[in-house]
Formats: sequence, structure tokens, C-alpha cells
Amino acid sequence: MGIVEAKGIAKIYNEGKSSEVNALCGVTVNIEEGEWVSIMGKSGSGKSTLLHIMGLVDKYTSGSLTFDGQCVDNLRQNKVADIRMKKVGFVLQDFGLIWNMSVFDNIATPLYLAKEKKGRVKELVSKAAKELEIEDLLKKKAKELSGGQCQRVAIARAIVTGPKIIFADEPTGALDEENAKNIMGIFAKIKGNGTTVVMVTHDKELSLMADREIVLSDGKVVR
Ligand SMILES: Nc1ncnc2c1ncn2[C@@H]1O[C@H](COP(=O)(O)OP(=O)(O)OP(=O)(O)O)[C@@H](O)[C@H]1O
Ligand SMILES: [Mg+2]
Repeated sequence: MGIVEAKGIAKIYNEGKSSEVNALCGVTVNIEEGEWVSIMGKSGSGKSTLLHIMGLVDKYTSGSLTFDGQCVDNLRQNKVADIRMKKVGFVLQDFGLIWNMSVFDNIATPLYLAKEKKGRVKELVSKAAKELEIEDLLKKKAKELSGGQCQRVAIARAIVTGPKIIFADEPTGALDEENAKNIMGIFAKIKGNGTTVVMVTHDKELSLMADREIVLSDGKVVR
């Protein structure tokens, strides 16, 4: 059984309006637990839309989605949010850090939201920081970091709750080649720990480092 099973997913933005967009048209994909999948495709092909739907951030117009064995089609929004908080980590191209906040607090944000106790927060942040080799940065403010360091912090924040699956939307888009390769090394390690990784990338070379590639074109899976 896959951790994410998407069957015939369609996403229409601005349905019924003149600005209507068919972003996804009958997408069927199956992400197996523990695999590292890359999603490729031209700009506007629906990559981010698919990632957000699989990661339980966005709703779909039609089709069926099963997440970790549970069909979420008719699940209430607060239930979906609960699954997302417990099982999903997100990494974004522009990091999504809060610049004036310390690295520690940035990484701890999902734990604060989950109302974890102070001691537990410290323990989990230390563990994630160690994994990403950023223990020496915890007291710095996010605005004092380099791009590569920012992305490590963003990944630490994504894994701090111990999610089953990480979604990364062009995680290396803002980085140079060396830092991009380093981030791929980190994903390999996260996958090695048993976490499923799904990433969107434009970079053919980086895409080849994943176990498998899904290619989208005009909202359809073409490969
Ligand atoms: N919130 C939105 N409202 C309306 N249309 C949207 C919205 N988000 C995306 N779209 C449209 O849906 C289509 C797919 O967008 P999406 O962001 O998924 O593409 P993408 O493959 O991630 O592109 P890129 O590589 O540029 O990030 C595009 O035509 C886009 O303009
Ligand atoms: Mg995108």
C-alpha cells in the first residue's frame, strides 16, 4: 500500500469563472512508503498544485486521495489538518522562515503549534539540528544565515515532528550548485531513516538522484 494514493485527481481553480484553470486533469499517482520521488515538468504544469494536494494543504475538485491508509475525500478540514500536523513536513523554495526569530524558534514552530512541552521541544529541536549539522546556529536569527544554512533550518523544521513524509517544492531553487547537492545528500539521509520524500525540481541532474521520477505536462502525468 502506498503512503499517498491519488486516483483521478482534478483541480480546477476559479471554477465557472472566466479565469478558470484546469491545473490537474485526472492525475493518478502512488507514492510508496520510504521512496524518494521527484516531480518534474514545465512551469505551470501543475507540480506545486499536486504537491499541495498530496500534502493535504489544498483541496481537490474531484478524484480520490488516500493518505497513509485513510481516505480523506470526505474528511472534515480539522481532521485533515490534524493528519497533516502529525504526518507531513513541508520544505519551500524560499525557505518560509521568520527572519527576526532565532533558528531555534523557527525549527520549533511546528512543536509550539502542537503544544509540546518545553523539555520535549528542546529535545526534538536538538535532534533535528544535529541531523542537519546546524547545532551551532540555534541562537542566531534567521536573517543572519546564508541561503544554504536557511534551507537546512527549513528542512530541520520540516522533520522536527518526525513526519512520515516530506514534501519539498523546488527546495534548491534559490541555492548554488554545491548547496543544492548538499541538500540532495540530506534528502538521501532522511530517506535512509525511512521517511518518504517527494520533491519538485527543475533540475534534471538532481531529479536523477531520486528513486523515481513523475513528469507532469498540462496537468497530466506523462511519465
Ligand atoms: N491559486 C491559484 N489560482 C488560480 N490559478 C492558479 C493558482 N495556483 C496555480 N494556478 C494555475 O494552475 C496552473 C498550475 O500551477 P502550478 O503552480 O501547480 O504549476 P507549477 O508546475 O508548480 O509551475 P512552476 O514550475 O512555475 O512553479 C497554472 O496555470 C497556474 O497559473
Ligand atoms: Mg510550482
